[in-house]
Amino acid sequence: MSNALKEYLVSTQSRVERALDARLPSENVLPKKLHDAMRYSTLDGGKRMRPMLAYATGKALGLSEDILDGPACAVELIHVYSLIHDDLPAMDDDDLRRGKPTSHIAYDEATAILTGDALQALAFEVLANDPSIEVDAESRLKMITTLTKASGSQGMVGGQAIDLESVGTKLTLPELENMHIHKTGALIRASVNMAALAKSDIDPAVAKKLDHYAKCIGLSFQVKDDILDEESDTATLGKTQGKDQDNDKPTYPALLGLNGAKEKAQELHEQAVESLSSFGPEADLLRDLSLYIIQRDH
Ligand code: IPE
Ligand code: IPE
Ligand code: MG
Ligand code: MG
Ligand code: MG
Repeated sequence: MSNALKEYLVSTQSRVERALDARLPSENVLPKKLHDAMRYSTLDGGKRMRPMLAYATGKALGLSEDILDGPACAVELIHVYSLIHDDLPAMDDDDLRRGKPTSHIAYDEATAILTGDALQALAFEVLANDPSIEVDAESRLKMITTLTKASGSQGMVGGQAIDLESVGTKLTLPELENMHIHKTGALIRASVNMAALAKSDIDPAVAKKLDHYAKCIGLSFQVKDDILDEESDTATLGKTQGKDQDNDKPTYPALLGLNGAKEKAQELHEQAVESLSSFGPEADLLRDLSLYIIQRDH
C-alpha cells in the first residue's frame, strides 16, 4: 500500500467516525435501546470504503471534503443497515461482524430489524437535510434519487433477493455478475456518483468515466469479498470465514476457482484504472483504492 493511501485511510477513517457520531442520535435519547444498537453497529468498525470513495472522488474533482460528509455518511448508514439485515438468521445467519457479535446477537432479532430500518431512514434524512451539503436543491434531489435507486429493489435489496433465491443453485457467470453488481456494486457506484453530483457543473463525459470506474470496482469488491471468505481467517476478517460454502452460496471462486476469481478481480482493477486515463494525479487516490480493494486482507 502506498504511503499516501495509508495516510488517507487513517485520516478519512477518523473523519467518518466523527461525522457519523455527530449524526446518530445519542444513546440517552428514547428509545435508548434502539439508539444504542444504531451506534453499536455503526461506530468504531469497518473499512469505510464507501465514504473513502466519495471523498476520493471529490479530490479528483477538486471539491472540499466538508461538502461530502453528508453523502459519505448516508451511504455508510445504508451499508451498515444492509450488513445488519444480511447477518439475520433469515438471511446469512452470521454471529460475528466487524469483530463483534452481530446486532441480533448483541441485542435481539426485533431490535436488529428495527436498527436497520432506522439507519436507512437516517441516511435519507441526512441527504435531505444536512446543512453541510452545500449544493443546489436540484443536485441534492439527484443525490437522494441516486442513493434511493442504489438501495432498493433494483439495487442492493434486489441483489440480496437474487442472492437468497440462488442458494443451492448454480448461476451462470452473467447471472452471478448481475447479482454482485446489484448487491454490492450499486452502493459503491452510488458513493462515487453522489460525490460527482456535488460538483454541479461537472462535464457529463467526466461523470460517465467516474461511473464506469465505480461499476468496475463495485464488482471487484464483491469478487474479492468472495475470495476472502475462502482464503482468509475469521480473526482477520472480523466475520466468520467459510460462510459462503456453508450456506451453499454462488460465488466467483465457486464458479471460476480461486485463481479464476483472482484473475477476474485483476481485470476489473485494470478496467477501472483505464476509465481514469483522462485524469491526472488528482485521481491517484481513486487508482490506489481500486488496487487496495483487490489486495486487501479483510
Ligand atoms: C461487506 O462489506 C459486505 C459487502 C458488501 C461485500 P465491507 O467489506 O465494506 O464491510 P465493512 O464495512 O468493512 O465492515
Ligand atoms: C453482502 O454480501 C452484501 C450486502 C448487501 C450486505 P455478503 O453476504 O457476501 O457480505 P458478508 O460477507 O456477509 O460481509
Ligand atoms: Mg449475504
Ligand atoms: Mg453475509
Ligand atoms: Mg461475503
